[in-house]
Amino acid sequence: MKPIDNPYTPNAGAKPPVLAGREEQMDNFEVLLARSLKKRPAQSMIITGLRGVGKTALLNEFRERAERSEWITIELEASKHDESLFRRQIALGVRSALYEMQPRKKWNDRLEKAARALGSFSLTFDPQGAMVAGIGINDYTGIADSQILSHDLTELFVNVGEAARAHQRGVVLLIDEIQFLERSQLEALIMAIHKTVQRALPIALVGAGLPQIAELAGDAKSYSERLFKFPEISSLTAESARDAFAKPAQEEGVEWSEEALDRAIEITEGYPYFIQELGSAVWLTAQESPICVQNVDDAVPLFESGLDESFFRVRLDRATRLQAAYLRAMAQLGPGPQKANAVADVMGRSSKSLGPTRSELINMGLLFTPRHGFAEFTVPHFHSFMLREMPDLIVPERRKRNNTD
Ligand SMILES: Nc1ncnc2c1ncn2[C@@H]1O[C@H](COP(=O)(O)OP(=O)(O)O)[C@@H](O)[C@H]1O
Ligand SMILES: [Mg+2]
Repeated sequence: MKPIDNPYTPNAGAKPPVLAGREEQMDNFEVLLARSLKKRPAQSMIITGLRGVGKTALLNEFRERAERSEWITIELEASKHDESLFRRQIALGVRSALYEMQPRKKWNDRLEKAARALGSFSLTFDPQGAMVAGIGINDYTGIADSQILSHDLTELFVNVGEAARAHQRGVVLLIDEIQFLERSQLEALIMAIHKTVQRALPIALVGAGLPQIAELAGDAKSYSERLFKFPEISSLTAESARDAFAKPAQEEGVEWSEEALDRAIEITEGYPYFIQELGSAVWLTAQESPICVQNVDDAVPLFESGLDESFFRVRLDRATRLQAAYLRAMAQLGPGPQKANAVADVMGRSSKSLGPTRSELINMGLLFTPRHGFAEFTVPHFHSFMLREMPDLIVPERRKRNNTD
């Protein structure tokens, strides 16, 4: 079929033609917004899941829905950075939010006060006050200026929440890759949201991140479980995967045969990224409607090379030789969580000496820790990619047998 009509979207974060199987999350999100506006306590959410299951796509959908309901959205992507970047990202979002509530000329006391809080909040990275200079605020003493992140963020959110309430608006923060936040940053967010929930202010937080985040937040504050839901999203059910394959084609006047759908679902196991990649490969391979099983089988090499290029290899390319050796050794042990000791054994090294490598891989977002002492690939099917890509184990230079730990 013609590339120009190809409806599938095999790209990270790309808005899929059909966002299949996420009705429950969307309902929860609508409830969160509606309850917050009614001053009812509502649980914010942190969505967790492996790479490619559709967390970013879901956050984008949330943003669209929130905007349709006249909510103000603040979007940010967390990264491994110091506190000042985090403050800057929040401050920029808050500044736009304040402008969105009212044009500057019409600001009342509440908005002025929120802007003063913003000025103080920004002082640590913006001592000259450039963040609020354009707003015309130059006196910002007394609020959000303790330089203690959790304290300042709480005061900022409370003031923004009060301004929003006064304008019958709500503000929702959408934070992607939330696992990259430092513990102190996550803790500050949780404390700030705790306060706005207590005051029944219309501020909500929705994050998305890798699965270890639930544990992180749990450590950060014991009450996070009451404040937040931690829904995990994963591969789609067969029924939703059918929709994800068939509906976009239908829009273009192309049908899938039942057998072709069954085969496609079997190959992709319903993983959203794999669905888009296979859908796209089938589209480019098949000549005419309806798409049959043979078309799906013929598209598999293109599907696999596409996945290797766009999904798997980009991650491996960022790894050093020792990191790659670690990943390869993990793959040797198969899919699922692997013990640090077991990986070290495969490499003939002590697990202590490999500790830093393992931490680096976690920091890079290639591995996560589903529970203490274990690590797992963040990318589904990464173990089979590693075995394909590096058939032999890599022996790190200084091979020593040192089982002191
Ligand atoms: N519910 C869904 N149905 C169909 N395709 C989806 C769905 N969610 C995401 N996708 C597609 O899957 C791929 C991965 O989505 P993305 O949001 O980047 O995942 P993540 O952020 O979890 O790594 C993208 O190509 C996207 O278009
Ligand atoms: Mg993402």
